[in-house]
Amino acid sequence: MSTLIETQGLQKYFKTSKGFLHAVDGIDLKIEEGQTLGVVGESGCGKSTLGRAVLRLQEPTAGKIFYEGRDLMAMNKAEMHHMRTEMQMIFQDPYSSLNPRMSIWELIAEPMLINNMYKSDKAGLNKRIEELMDTVGLAKRLTHSYPHELDGGRRQRIGVARALSLNPKFIVCDEPVSALDVSIQAQILNLLMDLQDERGLTYMFITHDLSVVKHISNEIMVMYMGTCVERAPKEELFAHPVHPYTKALLAAIPEPDIDKRGSLQVLKGEVSSPINPAPGCRFAHRCPYAKPECMGKDLTMHEITPGHYVACPYCQELKG
Ligand SMILES: Nc1ncnc2c1ncn2[C@@H]1O[C@H](COP(=O)(O)OP(=O)(O)OP(=O)(O)O)[C@@H](O)[C@H]1O
Ligand SMILES: [Mg+2]
Repeated sequence: MSTLIETQGLQKYFKTSKGFLHAVDGIDLKIEEGQTLGVVGESGCGKSTLGRAVLRLQEPTAGKIFYEGRDLMAMNKAEMHHMRTEMQMIFQDPYSSLNPRMSIWELIAEPMLINNMYKSDKAGLNKRIEELMDTVGLAKRLTHSYPHELDGGRRQRIGVARALSLNPKFIVCDEPVSALDVSIQAQILNLLMDLQDERGLTYMFITHDLSVVKHISNEIMVMYMGTCVERAPKEELFAHPVHPYTKALLAAIPEPDIDKRGSLQVLKGEVSSPINPAPGCRFAHRCPYAKPECMGKDLTMHEITPGHYVACPYCQELKG
C-alpha cells in the first residue's frame, strides 16, 4: 500500500477581533491508498477546517500537504485546479450545499462542465450522468427533479454523484450522514463503502458520531481543539483507548442494552478558548489526571504500540 495523502504540521488560524483562533494546530496525518481515516471530536474542534485545509479549499496558515508524494502547498492556482479533480468533498447538509434552482441533471453536470469535460458532447454527458445516477442509486425518472422534491438520503446521493463525477481518488466526507434519519444513514454509509471497494477510493471521514466512524474507518484520529490527541487503527483505539479525552468520548457512546449501561462520564472543567491558546495540552483544564506541568509541555505524539500515537507525556502511566 502506498500513502495517498499526508500532512505535516498543518495549521489553519483565523484572525478574529480577539486574536488568532487556532482551528487546526499542527496536524500530522497519513492516509494509505484505499483506506479510510475517521476524524472525530466535539463540535468546533476543527474537523471541517482540517478537511478543507487538506484540500486547500481553505488556505492553510502553515504546514505541508503531500498528495502521492507531490507537495500541494508548492502548487500554483492552475496546478491546484487540476489536482482538485482527484480530491473531492462531500458535505454534511446536502440541502444547503445544493443549489435549489438546479435540477439533478444540472447539479451532477456542473462539476464536469466547470472542468471542461463533455463541453461539446451532450450525448456523452447525458450518458455519464445516467451512469452516475445509477451508481449512487438514483432512479432515472428523477433526472429533472429539484433538490426540494427529494428526501435527505436522495439529496445526499446527489452530493456523492457530484463528488464522483470527476473520478477522484480521495474524498473528504464531512459529516455526510449526520443530517440524515438513522435508517437512511446506513444506506449512505453502505454506498460509500461499496464505492470504496469498487474504485479503491481513499476517504477522510469526518464525524462526531463514534458508532459511524467505527463502521467505516480503518484508522481513527481524535481531535481536541485543533490538535490530534490520539491516533490508532480502529480496533486498537476502541479496545485500548489511552488519552482521557478519547476515553470520555467512547464512554459517551449510547449503550442500547440497559443492563450494560454504566453511569455517564461527564467531563468537568471549562473548555479553554481556541483563541491564542496557551502552550501545552489543550485538554489539561478538563483532564482528571492533569499535572501542573501539562500546561507548558509540548504536545509531542508518543507511539505507545505500533501505529498507536497519544499526545500525552503520561501516556505510559495511563496505558496501565
Ligand atoms: N471562517 C471562519 N472564521 C473564523 N473562525 C472560524 C471560521 N471557520 C471556523 N471557525 C472556527 O474554527 C473552529 C473550528 O471550526 P470547525 O467548523 O472546523 O469545527 P468542527 O469540528 O467541524 O465543528 P462541527 O462539529 O460543529 O462541524 C471553531 O471555533 C469555529 O468557530
Ligand atoms: Mg464541521
